[in-house]
Amino acid sequence: MLLDTHQSEIEAIIARYAQKRSAVLPLLYLAQDTYGYLNPAAVREVAAILDLPATDVFEVVGFYTLFYDKPVGTWMLQVCDDLPCCYLGAEELLTALKRTLGIREDQTTADGMFTLQRVKCLAACDRAPVVQANLDYLYDVTAERADLLLANLRARAAEAKQRGLSGRSAEDFVVETDRLSHMSRDAAYQERSFTIEPPPPPTPPAELDSGYDLPQFRRASPL
Ligand code: FES
Repeated sequence: MLLDTHQSEIEAIIARYAQKRSAVLPLLYLAQDTYGYLNPAAVREVAAILDLPATDVFEVVGFYTLFYDKPVGTWMLQVCDDLPCCYLGAEELLTALKRTLGIREDQTTADGMFTLQRVKCLAACDRAPVVQANLDYLYDVTAERADLLLANLRARAAEAKQRGLSGRSAEDFVVETDRLSHMSRDAAYQERSFTIEPPPPPTPPAELDSGYDLPQFRRASPL
């Protein structure tokens, strides 16, 4: 039971809000991280803690895509397939992941390690192709780096270092050719300096030719 294992955390979450019911999202995330997904018993437990009708909480779970009401893998891999990521190889990456994992989208590997999903823009287009793994951001994930990424995630799971599904304390990583490098979460938003080259001087327009003054269009003046 959540209250048995996380009582002080639950009390701290509820204390942040003027009304107890406002804590429904963070408590659902806590339940999801604790149980692996939001099974009906977990949803009812959250409803009971917040004195809410269970139906209200089931509706919240059904509305948000980051709440999972079915079992998912230890790592939820979400591959962005929006336009900038596609230009830089998102489809090839998805193909490589599906081939290596032996699953299709929205399926989970037999060992319960990975669930694969396609998602829309993750708002990190300048580091495309982008993947989220339990809401850790992974940048520059080309198809050639898929195996490296999977090996890294498996190793973190083996050491019990994977994130909770709900991404509390999620971090950012750049996937390079031979390793994953940690990146501070706000590094992508630091001020960067750019050298802007002055535009070249305009070339004078070529003399316009309407095309009507060609010999075949000329006629003798009737005058
Ligand atoms: S298009 Fe992939 S992060 Fe924006």
